[in-house]
Amino acid sequence: MKLLDGKEVSAKLKEDIKREAAELTEKLGRKPHLVAILVGHDGGSETYVASKMRNCEQVGFDSTNLHYEDDITEEALLAKIAEINADDEIDGLIVQLPLPKHIDPEKVTEAIDYRKDVDGFHPINLGRMQRNLPSFIPATPYGIMLMLDHYKLDISGKKAVVVGRSNIVGSPMSILLARNSNPGNCTVTLTHSRTQNLKEEVLQADVVVAAIGRKNFVTADMVKEGAIVIDVGINRETSTETKSGYKLYGDVDFNEVSKKASWITPVPGGVGLMTIIGLLKNTLEAAKGTVY
Ligand code: GUN
Repeated sequence: MKLLDGKEVSAKLKEDIKREAAELTEKLGRKPHLVAILVGHDGGSETYVASKMRNCEQVGFDSTNLHYEDDITEEALLAKIAEINADDEIDGLIVQLPLPKHIDPEKVTEAIDYRKDVDGFHPINLGRMQRNLPSFIPATPYGIMLMLDHYKLDISGKKAVVVGRSNIVGSPMSILLARNSNPGNCTVTLTHSRTQNLKEEVLQADVVVAAIGRKNFVTADMVKEGAIVIDVGINRETSTETKSGYKLYGDVDFNEVSKKASWITPVPGGVGLMTIIGLLKNTLEAAKGTVY
């Protein structure tokens, strides 16, 4: 088994982004700028947004975190988004999900100018991605493709099984893996909670992407010998063992599955770090104006 090492790959790609950001800053007379809107106090979301902001600063971007209480109205949030859309000095805008129940995430997603949609969630970006046109690609699937590309893993023509059909990961991941591009060209099966004989489906896979959000869901008996296993899970459980007070678990039973896999991502230290890279690259592209 070899490790798909998110720490190593993300560190290398971050250096490339930092260099490009410095060149662009010289050219534009200002830094690339990402705004992240966070609503409420979900522990995971607060941690992720803080990490995104910190990473922006590390590569020489400006970053702004707009943090609202969870009683902000949908109208007020949409008005703020419209204001940011109109600001020429802001390149990228993300609204961290999930949102409180009284705010419609679809309305929010579509309110973001697709040219600033560095999460790649807007229907225009999703449609363009599906058609293999320039677009912003959702950060986690983008990061995974960058990881596969870094290790030059030959997945063309192979069978990929994605577990989980979320808008953020599973669904766009299935599109990217099937696309006529490199990496890509897989025969893809998108599985989910209603899939019958899930174990048999996953057993067929040369590439498994686990994005179901359940701790240790993919077990060794579900994985073919020699498979490439990508674990998207970030399942947080409170723990007295760690300083932060919680511990992260993947969707894959790493200890057992790693005995069968040819390549596997760890949690933490795998896909999570690559998600950040996807976001940074999208923000850089937005500032450069190379996508739109
Ligand atoms: N919630 C979980 N992942 C993401 C992400 O990549 N972007 C946003 N905006 N919210 C998320």
